[in-house]
Amino acid sequence: MNDGLFITFEGPDGNGKSTQIRLLKEYLEKKELSVIVTREPGALDIGKKIRDLLLNPVYKDQMTPEAELFLYEADRALHTKNLIIPALKNGSIVISDRYYDSTTAYQGVAGKIDLGLVLLCNKIASYGLIPDITFYLHAELDDIRRKTTTEEFGVADRPESKPDDEKQKRIDGFYALSTLEPERIKLIKYIPDKIDAMQSEIRKYVDKILKS
Ligand code: TYD
Repeated sequence: MNDGLFITFEGPDGNGKSTQIRLLKEYLEKKELSVIVTREPGALDIGKKIRDLLLNPVYKDQMTPEAELFLYEADRALHTKNLIIPALKNGSIVISDRYYDSTTAYQGVAGKIDLGLVLLCNKIASYGLIPDITFYLHAELDDIRRKTTTEEFGVADRPESKPDDEKQKRIDGFYALSTLEPERIKLIKYIPDKIDAMQSEIRKYVDKILKS
């Protein structure tokens, strides 16, 4: 257990994470708790540069799966060491929009990198820091397909422009992780018109940890 509380949100693109994170932050702040919301990739200034290298479609012809893995892990190492660990030491609640389960699902299960190698890299880059609880918002391919965003680069970013079979593998990967680590990873079913019900479920889990 960390000094503060480390909560992560995971799942495929377009699964409503941002909304759930915003609602959870509001709820915890009403309890006068110190809450820091962060994300991967790109939380720090240096990470924003890494985020651009990773997501900007202009680099799509040069990027390799190995380079991509190391860039995500580099971003994570900087993020964990400079932001997450100090905030937890201060007793804050840190909510991260994605952490190493994303690498396992995207670069490992759905990607081209050996899973054992991905897990090892995750361990190095996270300094062994394990989230206290992870919410995996489980969405079906049909739900997320409609939600591709083009705001950041004017067109879909690199991960969002991958074919459907790869997107399905990401979902399968997250699902498998949630069954392998049910104590840590809580599956919350994404239902587009049930935002409040999803949030109530999330709050119940968080309240339980806060009490213990
Ligand atoms: P982002 O715009 O932050 O999307 P989202 O709101 O869906 O999180 O994009 C982050 C993208 O990076 C997303 O497509 C998932 C991908 N990603 C990986 O492939 N591996 C990783 O380790 C992480 C952290 C993210």
